[in-house]
This record gives sequence, structure tokens and C-alpha cells, in this order.
Amino acid sequence: MDSAIIRDRDFAASALEGLQADPKWLDSKWLYDAEGSAIFEQITQLPEYYPTRTETRILKDEISALSQVLDPGTVLVELGSGASVKTRILLDAASQLGAYVPVDISADFLEETAKGLREAYPGTPIRPVVGDFTQDIRLPAALDAEPKTAFFPGSTIGNLPHDTAAAMLDRLRHWPGIKALILGLDLVKDTTTLVEAYDDAAGVTANFNLNLLRRMNREIGADFDLSAFHHEARWNAELSRIEMHLVSDKDQTVTVAGTPIAFAAGESIHTENSRKYTREAFAAIADRGGWEIADFLTDAGQLFAVAVLKPKQD
Ligand code: SAH
Ligand code: AVI
Repeated sequence: MDSAIIRDRDFAASALEGLQADPKWLDSKWLYDAEGSAIFEQITQLPEYYPTRTETRILKDEISALSQVLDPGTVLVELGSGASVKTRILLDAASQLGAYVPVDISADFLEETAKGLREAYPGTPIRPVVGDFTQDIRLPAALDAEPKTAFFPGSTIGNLPHDTAAAMLDRLRHWPGIKALILGLDLVKDTTTLVEAYDDAAGVTANFNLNLLRRMNREIGADFDLSAFHHEARWNAELSRIEMHLVSDKDQTVTVAGTPIAFAAGESIHTENSRKYTREAFAAIADRGGWEIADFLTDAGQLFAVAVLKPKQD
């Protein structure tokens, strides 16, 4: 109960910081409460959202190369594990993993997912950790001495600012026993494909984005009128990223955690960045975080890549 209260305070403070800034923003990690995580799973099934099916294909096609960093006894730690769907490809191929540790900020969804995995993989210890991977994550101390491979799929790294991503990779590299990192990254491609993937015809991504407003109404006493905002996906070529925005349809004032927030018609809240990489741009971030690319696996269309990274030798 206490931790839930603290989380609400964190959310309120973070939301107010962003909504009182100019331009307005919200940290994309707040997109993932139980409802947001469930809507994200719907996104992964959309015809326009190519990343999930493409990464799944690469993982399946390249499973023998990937199995080489999943020796018996290895602890597989996944960052931003969500429903752990793609992970099952690794869990099915690896024999005798020491444990699987899914790490996610979406606590209830993580617990439900862990329950399903325990039933499906009774021989593998499933040790979920609720945490924010942009900060220090406390892995179970009993696993300290074990060899570890980290898994960071989905191109979730692209949702982080470059400095945060490099700092996170650097922390990962210093985990005791860390041997390798398998990381998914989305590649630069034509603008239409990118924008449609983040503004689908069925409106599922719009619903995912608008859930942030619903979440503020539910958890921190906000009074957003959802019919007075709309979702936009914008390609920012200069920064090589898709941006999600929630745009106010009129002049209005909303109360958030007791504080009035004024919106002009057309003003937006910037809610997410999703960076798209070239191999070179990604290699530079990996290098800053102390990793080198051992393998770079892509699909035939060069839409997405799965990189196998090894700690750089000092
Ligand atoms: N790995 C899955 C899910 C990706 S969605 C896939 O590839 O399909 C991104 C996931 O990261 C969500 O489950 C979300 O809850 C989690 N997440 C986002 N920001 C986070 C943070 N700062 N710390 C921990 N988990 C985070
Ligand atoms: C989790 N993350 C990598 C997704 C992405 O593609 O950036 C989140 C997402 N946002 C809108 N659609 C999907």
C-alpha cells in the first residue's frame, strides 16, 4: 500500500513538472499502467506496426546464433519485459537457464505475466523485478554470482534520450556476471511506413496515447476531457525519431493534482520519442555505454535489427 502511495506521488510530481514546462511533455514510462500495457499488446498485433512481427522473425531465424549466449546456467534478465511474448522464443531454445528475470515498471501486468510463465516453464525459476530501468535495478542478490545475458527487445531503447540510454547500457555492463546483451533496435526507413506504424487506422495507438490522460484522471485527480484532445504521430527527421503528441483541440484549463494547467488550441503535450537508428548511430551509443557489436542480425527488408553486444575490453 505504501509503495502505491509513493508511486502516485512520483507520477503527480513528474506529470506536473512536464505539464508546467514549455513545450509541455510527459515521460513515456507513464504510458504503462495495467491498461496501457494491455493496449500496447494490441499495438503489437496491428498490420501497420511492423516492429514486433519483424523482430519475432529475426529471433526465430537466428535462434542458433542467439543460443550461444544462453549457455546452461545463464540468468536471462529482460528489461521492459511487458507480456514476455518474444522471450518465449529464447526460453524455448535455451536449456537449463539459471533463471529468467523479467524487469518492468508495470507492476500488476508483470505479476500476471510471471504467473503465466511459471505455468509454461515449470523448470525455469521466474524471478520478476518491478523497477525503473533508467535507475539502479536491484536484481535478486542470490543471483549475483551467476552468469547473465540481458535482453532488451522491442527497440524500447529508442524511447530513451541518448544520454539516458548510454548511462543505462553502462550500468548494465557493470552487473556482476554480465556476459552479453541481446538488444532490438528499429531502423530508419521511409516516412509513410513510420508514421502509419504510430497512427494506425483502427486508432489503437491513439487510445494508447490518450490512456495517459485517463491515467492522470484515475490516479492523480486530473479532469482531462478526452474528447478535447487528439493523438498525433510526427516524424522528426533531424532527430531521427517518431514523436507522439496529444494536441488540445481548443483553449482550455485542466486541473492536475490540484494545479490548473492552461492549454491553447493546437498546443501539444509531447508524450513519447521512438528513435530510429542506422547501424552507425546505434554503434556510437553502444560504444558510449561500453559495449561492442558482436553480431548485427536484420530481416531481408532491413526494417529492424537484433544486435548481440559484448562488453568492450578495457
Ligand atoms: N519487451 C516487450 C514490451 C515492449 S513495451 C516487447 O518487445 O514487445 C515497453 C515495455 O517497457 C513496457 O512493458 C513498459 O512497461 C516497460 N517500460 C517502459 N519504461 C520503463 C522503465 N523506465 N523501466 C522499466 N520498464 C519500463
Ligand atoms: C515500446 N516501444 C518500443 C514502442 C515504440 O515503438 O516506440 C512504444 C510504442 N509507442 C507507440 N506505439 C508503440
